[in-house]
Amino acid sequence: MTSKVNIIAVGGGKGGIGKSVVCTNLAIGMALSGQKVVLIDTDFGASNLHALLGINNPAHGFQDFFKENFSDRQSLLIDTGISNLKFVSGAGDNPGSANIDADKVNTIISFIKNLEADTILLDLGPGTNFNVIDFFNISMQSVVLTTPEITSVMKTFSFIRSVLFRRISLAFQDNPEIQKLVDHSNPANADIESYTTDLLMERFAEDFPEHLDKLHTIIKNFTPGLVVNRVRSKKDLLTGDNLLKLVKKFLKLEATYLGYIIESDQVRDSVDEMVPFLIKDPQSTPSENLQQIIGSLTNADLEFVKRDGKIFVSKEVRLSSGWEA
Ligand SMILES: Nc1ncnc2c1ncn2[C@@H]1O[C@H](COP(=O)(O)OP(=O)(O)OP(=O)(O)O)[C@@H](O)[C@H]1O
Ligand SMILES: [Mg+2]
Repeated sequence: MTSKVNIIAVGGGKGGIGKSVVCTNLAIGMALSGQKVVLIDTDFGASNLHALLGINNPAHGFQDFFKENFSDRQSLLIDTGISNLKFVSGAGDNPGSANIDADKVNTIISFIKNLEADTILLDLGPGTNFNVIDFFNISMQSVVLTTPEITSVMKTFSFIRSVLFRRISLAFQDNPEIQKLVDHSNPANADIESYTTDLLMERFAEDFPEHLDKLHTIIKNFTPGLVVNRVRSKKDLLTGDNLLKLVKKFLKLEATYLGYIIESDQVRDSVDEMVPFLIKDPQSTPSENLQQIIGSLTNADLEFVKRDGKIFVSKEVRLSSGWEA
């Protein structure tokens, strides 16, 4: 396995909130800053990431992966025309495998983990089914997206809870009683109030006190990064803080706020034109917003500048907090 490859997942429960757009532009920004990046479309049923990169029909994709005579896995890595950036499509000419089972997910996960890159960005599909969550859970860093709409905030909250409870479930795989407790598909567990980490801790304290430490460690180790997309007003900016508080109060998780992206025609137009907004105008407001997010993720200050049709990046590595003090 390649050492030190950083896997970043971009997810969030609701469909259409900008996961793919943000993931694509993050990947481009990181590649421009000099990292070797692979962008991966894990939305097998409805893969469309290639279109955001201006690629009409990807030559290969994950759906070719399970064909009998398919052996050249390297051919899945498609050139994007952007230096340092390769792309793996979720599409392919084998539509029968849109609904992939757990074994296939595991095969793909091991392929991803063995890729040679500095950073791998995973674009997740909508929803909270196990395929989506299991891809999310191979990441070391995460970008969990919401828009300011309350429906999106609630779905993103549920997404984070599903990720946490799936982690707990997998960590206690040999204990069916605990599995039952954290099974998020149980409709009785649907409300925030009726199913919180506090409640889970209480149950553990009563029934499985010997496992409480392990539970605390799982909770402590999950620190999702939050991004608010499609921000239109100062009030919308509060969404990030509100979601942080919700996640802290009900799930006991320390999430990080990574930044926001404004609602902008520049983003929408870039999708229509199949040219990522960071490439079109690296000094537009959405691009500057994206710089901030990459800065939070990589702990470096980046600035993208376009001159004579070429994009340049200036980068300043931040001092650690110890130095600044
Ligand atoms: N900041 C923004 N400003 C304006 N429009 C935006 C912005 N972000 C996303 N959009 C619009 O939202 C559309 C959907 O975005 P995207 O495909 O990235 O969503 P998604 O979350 O990946 O959806 P799915 O869950 O279906 O995969 C884009 O095509 C674009 O038009
Ligand atoms: Mg998408």
